[in-house]
Amino acid sequence: MNPVQHVAVIMDGNGRWGLKNKKSRNLGHKAGLKTVEMIIKESIKKKIKFITLYAFSTENWKRPSTEKKFLFNLLEVYLKERLDQLNKNKIKLKIIGKKVFSKNLNSILNKAERITNNNDKLQINLALNYGSKTEIISALNKLKNTKGKITEKKIDQSLYTNNVPDPDFLIRTGNTARLSNFLLWQLAYSEIFFEKKLWPDFNKNDYLRIINKFKKIKRNFGNV
Ligand code: IPE
Ligand code: IPE
Ligand code: MG
Repeated sequence: MNPVQHVAVIMDGNGRWGLKNKKSRNLGHKAGLKTVEMIIKESIKKKIKFITLYAFSTENWKRPSTEKKFLFNLLEVYLKERLDQLNKNKIKLKIIGKKVFSKNLNSILNKAERITNNNDKLQINLALNYGSKTEIISALNKLKNTKGKITEKKIDQSLYTNNVPDPDFLIRTGNTARLSNFLLWQLAYSEIFFEKKLWPDFNKNDYLRIINKFKKIKRNFGNV
């Protein structure tokens, strides 16, 4: 049975769910929060130590400003309401991606990281303004003036995910089979589950089914 330490998730399909069920993309984003809560709860129950959630990509800036505003506001309100609870549950929040949001949101994100820094039950890497190519470029820039050759280990340690093991598996909901600039380096050997369901419809049974399926996969890592 493969152990599960780190699960990465591309939470896709909120907009389509919202349009279909509430006639509003934004209400789909709101509905998606329930699935986030489920993932957090079930991950803790399964003693998973890291989850990385793709919430906003470097490419998502192309979206209409009303949608971007709604998303950032949703995050701000969520953290204001839930930070204490996350902290009580010994969850550590880490933002991966450069914080270039409003003063208010930036400071709430910084505060959330600071307060939860020593928690050790579950680490949530929240990918916000995250792009894997930007991350790799920033790692290489950090390394270019250091002594000696660039190695795999040095790159690992220079990425936003330093000290986090690579994801054991990736889930992408929303019926689309692409990576959309997410963790390109870290996913090199991860198992990948592309799910038809839209993110707000993805439920506990779906998550547990994937975990169980993952546990039974024969992982070769090039060997036989
Ligand atoms: C993913 O859902 C969440 C974010 C990018 C914030 P989408 O908003 O991409 O939903 P669809 O793919 O348009 O349905
Ligand atoms: C990926 O979803 C980003 C997030 C889930 C945050 P997108 O909906 O932005 O991906 P594309 O544009 O369809 O590739
Ligand atoms: Mg999408």
